[in-house]
Amino acid sequence: MTLQKRKILATCALPYANGSIHLGHLLEHIQTDIWVRFQRMRGHEIYFVCADDAHGTPIMLKAQELGITPEEMIAGVREEHMADFADFHISFDNYHSTHSEENQAFASEIYNRLHAKGLIKTRVISQLYDPEKNMFLPDRFVKGTCPSCKSEDQNGDSCDNCGATYSPTEVINPRSVVSGATPILKDSEHYFFDLPAFSDMLQEWTRSGSLQEEMANKLAEWFEQGLQQWDISRDAPYFGFEIPNAPGKYFYVWLDAPIGYMGSFKNYCDKTGVDFDQFWQKDSEAELYHFIGKDIIYFHSLFWPAMLEGADLRKPTSVYAHGFVTVNGAKMSKSKGTFIKGRTYLEHLNPEYLRYYYAAKLTSRIDDLDLNLEDFAQRVNSDLVGKVVNIASRCASFITKRFDGMLSSTIENQALADEVTQAGDNIAALYEARDFGKAMREIMALADKANEYIAIKEPWQLVKDETKQQEVQDICSLGINLFRTLMIYLKPVLPKLAESTEAFLNDELNWEGHKILLTSHKINKFKALLQRVDMDKVNAMTDASKDNLAVAEEPAKKANKKKAKKSAPKKELTGKPLVDDPISEEIQFDDFAKIDLRIAKIVNAEHVEKADKLLRLTLSLDETGSGEENTTRQVFAGIKSAYQPEDLIGKLTVMVANLAPRKMRFGMSEGMVLAAGPGGEDLWILNPEDGAQPGMRVK
Ligand code: MSP
Ligand code: ZN
Repeated sequence: MTLQKRKILATCALPYANGSIHLGHLLEHIQTDIWVRFQRMRGHEIYFVCADDAHGTPIMLKAQELGITPEEMIAGVREEHMADFADFHISFDNYHSTHSEENQAFASEIYNRLHAKGLIKTRVISQLYDPEKNMFLPDRFVKGTCPSCKSEDQNGDSCDNCGATYSPTEVINPRSVVSGATPILKDSEHYFFDLPAFSDMLQEWTRSGSLQEEMANKLAEWFEQGLQQWDISRDAPYFGFEIPNAPGKYFYVWLDAPIGYMGSFKNYCDKTGVDFDQFWQKDSEAELYHFIGKDIIYFHSLFWPAMLEGADLRKPTSVYAHGFVTVNGAKMSKSKGTFIKGRTYLEHLNPEYLRYYYAAKLTSRIDDLDLNLEDFAQRVNSDLVGKVVNIASRCASFITKRFDGMLSSTIENQALADEVTQAGDNIAALYEARDFGKAMREIMALADKANEYIAIKEPWQLVKDETKQQEVQDICSLGINLFRTLMIYLKPVLPKLAESTEAFLNDELNWEGHKILLTSHKINKFKALLQRVDMDKVNAMTDASKDNLAVAEEPAKKANKKKAKKSAPKKELTGKPLVDDPISEEIQFDDFAKIDLRIAKIVNAEHVEKADKLLRLTLSLDETGSGEENTTRQVFAGIKSAYQPEDLIGKLTVMVANLAPRKMRFGMSEGMVLAAGPGGEDLWILNPEDGAQPGMRVK
């Protein structure tokens, strides 16, 4: 069978430029990369592009928070993303940014074409506006009481408590997450894309047969509910592209994001001379595929094809959605250490383990995929190390030591060789259909057969008999050949292992090569190809992930944590990150100003009977330290772990002098001592030599 050479452009969704790549994103990039590498191996002309999605309010605010320009921030994040993807062996032909000249040109051009056809409408709408920050607030930047169940501190568009969805204008006691101010309602003219005008076209496109069944069903539901005009404009301040002939109005990030696929490809074509129009013009015969997560189907299967159609460009051949990654059966979680960044993974584990595990669990459907870490280790060890690589390691040393690395000139068991070779077409069909899990099972079943063959033949026994040397060479040569064919099948998933295999076999692994066997061919010395997954490293990875505080949280919490981090001396003192506690409610400066912090002299310190941690301190605020009445306070302090009472007498400390007295089990406590440190033995108290005087105000 000769293959028809196809022209294909494949994309992954563009990651936002304000957070790190995590194992959820990587499912998509690994899935697409496997598919792309498979198509390349088959000799098709395929291009794989992606970019960072650099626009929008969250990115603008994040840059402000960091005190840098959005341009600086997105440049840095893009570098980080590219390094992460490269280290997971994601083989993009180009990785661009939506904040690019190419993208601005396409966004304006597409908009102008839609506008010229009367597909852009304007209408004044009323939205919540932050009067302190002088900006309109996206739904997720409003919080308040749920209008339905009255539960407090809910999101601007939905309630975590009762599940209600509503408009941010319905929220009771709304507040801006950005400034804390109470938002006001403000009018503004918005630009809308006339999506309903494309209803018939979209329904036909849906029926064209290349969409996943679940996606087609989802779309049918949306058609039933009726399509709405799509708001594509945002008011300044906004980090994005200004709309042509509409000063102060910017394209909503989701307008120019998918156009970013074109922008990235154009950037690539300009560098390489590939013909851009052949891929994007209306009657293009090239295939166009977008790999995305299930959360962004609406944008890719409704807005995007409609925009393309309206602008007289081609529509996607298909949009392939995948489900979400869960870890150990639950949503990725910071506190459990299962919100794992790509970089953290790479610091502990080989990227090909994850590529294989995802491949082994991927289907062509939209189901979620659970990364169970125990199963992950076990699966990789048993399949890759125990089955595939094992074939080579059982056979290689005989060939090297006894036959000078030379494979036999004949095939010991043609039927077995044929079986493994003939599986190639089915495995190819499974790759093509993105049924990677089934493909991996096929390959592992063949690996089982190869291992069984070797186990039955027992070359390690035969080798002891001088008359059976030829048999040993023939058996081991077939073993090596079976390993080679399996590695051809696995090459899209395990490009690095395939590379080391090529070096070992002294042969390049091409898809067509699965049809032949190596005879009278010299191989190189076998080196260990793959380590087993060490569960200790997996655990070290989740432990390290528990420290990754500030990714992908809702903005308010993030902002608070940031502030706390900056001002807390603990980090400097101990070199360790802050404890993982959520920072408690923000206080205003006025609240802080009420606290009377004074230097106090410890005039007496003694053990408290039956108390494990407490010392009874007598503190003097009198400059002379005389300990006269009025100026002395009794305070119970939990610092026994760090100090012997006798060592404290005469030292200075900072105390909250105006804390209301509290009755404790052992007596009245009339203040509070502030001591900093990681706990245990290292708590710091001031020495009088440091220049502080009792009674001195600290702030
Ligand atoms: N910027 C948009 C996409 C614009 S495409 C023109 C976006 N970015 S994202 O960073 O939030 O997500 C990028 C991709 O990663 C999306 O396809 C999303 O579905 C996917 N995933 C994000 N978290 C995921 C999991 N936990 N599991 C699987 N995929 C996940 O959306
Ligand atoms: Zn509610």
